[in-house]
Amino acid sequence: MPKPVFVLNGPNLNLLGVREPHIYGTTTLDQVKSACEARAAALGLTTDFRQTNHEGVLVDWIQEARTEAAAIIINPGAYSHTSIALLDALKACELPVIEVHLSNPAARESFRRRSYVSLAATGVIAGFGVQGYDLALDAAARLVPARPAGT
Ligand code: DQA
Repeated sequence: MPKPVFVLNGPNLNLLGVREPHIYGTTTLDQVKSACEARAAALGLTTDFRQTNHEGVLVDWIQEARTEAAAIIINPGAYSHTSIALLDALKACELPVIEVHLSNPAARESFRRRSYVSLAATGVIAGFGVQGYDLALDAAARLVPARPAGT
């Protein structure tokens, strides 16, 4: 079985759809999950889509990805701006890492302008709302080595 792309979501993203909709939109995380599954299928990928409010759980999932995932797409929420633990875990995983933000943190408060996670990211997609996940999957499809035909 080919390995899935882990799509990891951090704190408060469970509230997507009701949380500050003028910034994050009205689409729910369940709807993002379904859209990711559909996009991944069209690209010949599978996803393992998860959300947690806990930093250590994200670290555990990134460590799991080292051996169980083909790539990581991660929206670390506010931990982007604070977590050296996430940075270290991502550096250790030796996988393509695509950091996603619904909003464009660079255009918001100054404390959002630094992302520790970006130091370990292959690339960053920010400011495109929920479409950012689709764009991240498109990028993942280019970064993950293709399976040989017929396998
Ligand atoms: C976010 C941006 C972060 O600054 C914020 O803390 C979030 C969401 C985004 O998707 O735009 O929780 O990661």
